[in-house]
Amino acid sequence: MKLQRVLQYAQSLLELSVGEGDIAVDATAGNGHDTLFLANLVGDDGYVYAFDVQKQAVDATLHRLLDNALEHRAIVLKDGHENVAKYVTKPVSGAIFNLGYLPGSDHDIITKPNTTIQSLESLLKLLKVGGIIVLVIYHGHEGGKEERDEVIRFVSALPQKYIHVLRYEFLNQQNDPPFVIALEKVKETNFTLK
Ligand SMILES: C[S@@+](CC[C@H](N)C(=O)[O-])C[C@H]1O[C@@H](n2cnc3c(N)ncnc32)[C@H](O)[C@@H]1O
Repeated sequence: MKLQRVLQYAQSLLELSVGEGDIAVDATAGNGHDTLFLANLVGDDGYVYAFDVQKQAVDATLHRLLDNALEHRAIVLKDGHENVAKYVTKPVSGAIFNLGYLPGSDHDIITKPNTTIQSLESLLKLLKVGGIIVLVIYHGHEGGKEERDEVIRFVSALPQKYIHVLRYEFLNQQNDPPFVIALEKVKETNFTLK
């Protein structure tokens, strides 16, 4: 298979932007797969900030890091990603969001348009030139289409001189397949996002 699956593609974008010594953010830690992936990329001189609002997700992510002896490379915060600027003050090389609900958990706890966009605004300011924010958009669940549409509206309006915005999507898959949106900062800016 030559065309990368959506999750593979999301991780390959992180590999392009995050390297040893970098700061990275997992905005939706969930079961910790992306936190572990980022912890492997940043090495011992870098650091990962992982966020989730559910204790179950924080615990699962911590366990995954411990199982791989990489807990010293990450902090797992039980807080919303909309508060990222409270914790992260250094330039960020890469960030990932997996929108929606935690598989195998409470389907009522989902990411929401306002807080997702608030977090994107903060991360775009923190992002280095050459840094990438990856969003995997799940939109099959209740509330998913509203979030998808609001995120697309927000990212589509970003000034192209500063941020390149990409969508990677299989068009002939059934049942609301997830797709990727990626934002690359190409020029430093103090533009206002709203
Ligand atoms: C699709 S799951 C993430 C899956 C994860 N990447 C993994 O590897 O398992 C979405 C997660 O976002 C979390 N979430 C919802 N609202 C959030 C918020 N405001 N800030 C951070 N996490 C949030 C949910 O609790 C859920 O665990």
